[in-house]
Amino acid sequence: MGYELKSARFLARDVLTRALRPGDTAVDATMGNGHDTLLLCQLVGPEGRVYAFDIQEQAVSSTERLLRENGADGRAVLIHAGHERIADYVKEPVHAAVFNLGWLPGGDHSVTTRTGTTLQAVGAALQLLAPGGVATICAYPGHLEGDRERTALKEYVRALSNREYNVLHQQFLNAGPGAPECFIIQKVRRMSDKPGSGGAEK
Ligand SMILES: C[S@@+](CC[C@H](N)C(=O)[O-])C[C@H]1O[C@@H](n2cnc3c(N)ncnc32)[C@H](O)[C@@H]1O
Repeated sequence: MGYELKSARFLARDVLTRALRPGDTAVDATMGNGHDTLLLCQLVGPEGRVYAFDIQEQAVSSTERLLRENGADGRAVLIHAGHERIADYVKEPVHAAVFNLGWLPGGDHSVTTRTGTTLQAVGAALQLLAPGGVATICAYPGHLEGDRERTALKEYVRALSNREYNVLHQQFLNAGPGAPECFIIQKVRRMSDKPGSGGAEK
C-alpha cells in the first residue's frame, strides 16, 4: 500500500522516521506501552541512545518487555519519573523528542498527562533539541484535560520565536470535534551549525 494520511500518530511517526539517524539521541516523554520507545530505538540503532519517561511502573515494565522481545533493550534508559524532570536526566543534545499525551491505553484513565507538567516538559525538551532536531506532540482534545492541554500547548508553541523554531500544527479538519491533533516543532538550523560554514551567520 502507498502513503496513507490517516492519523496524528502516523504523522508524528513519519516525521521521526525521516528525522532520526543511526547514532542519534532521542527522548520518549510518555513511554506508555513502549511502541514509540521501540520505534526510536530502531531508528537510532545500536550506537544511539533513547531516554524514556513515565510515571507508571506498569508502563516501564511493559516497555522493558517490548524492547527485550525486539532485541532493543540495550539502547534505552527507562526512567520511572515525570517528564517535567527531563533536564535532571538528559544532559546531551537530543535529535527528537516524542510526546503522546493522555492516558495509558488499557490503563487507568485518571492517570493522564496534565497541562502544567506537559508545558514544563515541552519547554525543557525544546531547550535540549539539537539544531535540526524535532519534537512531535500528539494531543487528544476529546476529553476535558486533553482539551485544556491542547489549547495551552497551541498558545505556547505559537509564541515561540521563529528564529529559533519552526512550528507546525496539524489537524484533520473533517474528523469531527475531539479528533487527535499533532504539533511538530523543529529547532532551526543556523548557517553556523552547517558543516564547513566557517561560523558565518545571516
Ligand atoms: C498515550 S500514553 C503513551 C503511549 C506510548 N507512547 C506508546 O507508544 O505506547 C500516555 C502516557 O503518559 C504517561 N504520563 C502521564 N503523566 C506523565 C508525566 N508527568 N510524565 C511522564 N509520563 C506521563 C501515562 O502514564 C501514559 O502511560
